[in-house]
Amino acid sequence: MENNQKKLKFPNGFLWGTSTSAYQVEGGITNDWSEWEAKRVKSKKFKNKKLNPNDYICGKACDSYNRYEEDLDLAKSLNTNAVRFGIEWARIEPKKGVWDVAEIKHYAQVLAATKKRGLKTVVTLWHWTNPAWIAKAGGWANKETVTRYLRYVDLIVNELGGNIDYWVTLNEPMLLANYGYFLGYFPPNRHSFFKFKKATKNLINAHIGAYKKIHEYFPNAQVSITNLSNHFEPNKKWFFPDVMLKKIVAYYGINKFFNEINNYIDYIGVDYYRRIHLTLIPPFIKRKKENITDMGWEIYPEGIYHVLKYLSKFKKPIIILENGLADADDSRRAEFIKKHLYFVHKAIEDGVDVRGYFHWSLLDNFEWDKGYAPKFGLFAVDRKTFERKARLSAEVYGEICKTNSINFCTGISIPPLNKINHHVNAVFYSSDLK
Ligand code: FCB
Repeated sequence: MENNQKKLKFPNGFLWGTSTSAYQVEGGITNDWSEWEAKRVKSKKFKNKKLNPNDYICGKACDSYNRYEEDLDLAKSLNTNAVRFGIEWARIEPKKGVWDVAEIKHYAQVLAATKKRGLKTVVTLWHWTNPAWIAKAGGWANKETVTRYLRYVDLIVNELGGNIDYWVTLNEPMLLANYGYFLGYFPPNRHSFFKFKKATKNLINAHIGAYKKIHEYFPNAQVSITNLSNHFEPNKKWFFPDVMLKKIVAYYGINKFFNEINNYIDYIGVDYYRRIHLTLIPPFIKRKKENITDMGWEIYPEGIYHVLKYLSKFKKPIIILENGLADADDSRRAEFIKKHLYFVHKAIEDGVDVRGYFHWSLLDNFEWDKGYAPKFGLFAVDRKTFERKARLSAEVYGEICKTNSINFCTGISIPPLNKINHHVNAVFYSSDLK
């Protein structure tokens, strides 16, 4: 058995990190989402569900606005060499044309504190949330939002750009275009294909404009978006409508944006979470009952391999900027990470240029319309005291980052591990990968 044990090494200089977004962790932000939540919890539909409104109001989030030094220490304690976090547009420009100097200074301090710890900075400029005044003016369905966003980007480039190593202009723009303007799950809750198309076009132009602006000042900047790149399959492989639906969703979900911006990205930012089986019956996703996270998302590590291989057609370096799971009792996270990394490594061996892996998330945080119940953190956060506590999987991830490798056993005759082994140097087996 010992003989079969292999250390899978990642390339030198591989980026290891954790990801958060401004709204989900900072706390104390007023924007279009906070306004939406306030209205939502008062609605009849919400009241009928008898849910606790406090769980669905972002409010103080993880108080990371005040605790960023502590959070950076936690990130550093995992032996990561990079960290991804966001800047909140609504803080910088709370009213149209009014720049909040104190907030710009705040982010300058956060960036300096990150650099001081020797961490590379990956900074998201827009992660779904907008200043309330932008939403009132029509949000991303309004062309003017592009101009306004670019003014904000210009300011960030000027004031903070020197300390930003990797830029994420937009986080998962297609998801927001779809959920906000077509399916209507997220604010502004529109159900219009026309508005969806408009929002998509405006987001594409926003990215291209931002790319150009950043490169004007920093010709060697590394600029991209993140794209939610899950692995899609038709629910029934022999059923033509399911197959067509898969094609359409994969086109809009993965190809559309990258096709349009391919000349304006320096790398590809990938967010991978799950396999999705598509079916024509609303809500169009066939839920699986086994091997799922606390949010019901199917755990499918092999999918990251397919996605990476697929995205390699764009011929750009790839950075995985989100991958993780809701797992309150931490019984699956360590294995989840290792198995996904096994397939990332396999893609690298097959020639895919993957440069980094960022785990979502450093902390338990506010999971959008699902509120505080899903626990995505390597560190748990006490909702009353904000005390952070490392989960066991944090130790496992820390060891991976430290050694730039995972341990893997090739013996197929060895029975799969049937219980999660939290031991830091735990190996897992090829037979356990399905
Ligand atoms: C991604 C989002 C991120 C987080 C994870 C779980 O799609 O970008 O903010 O909510 O899902």
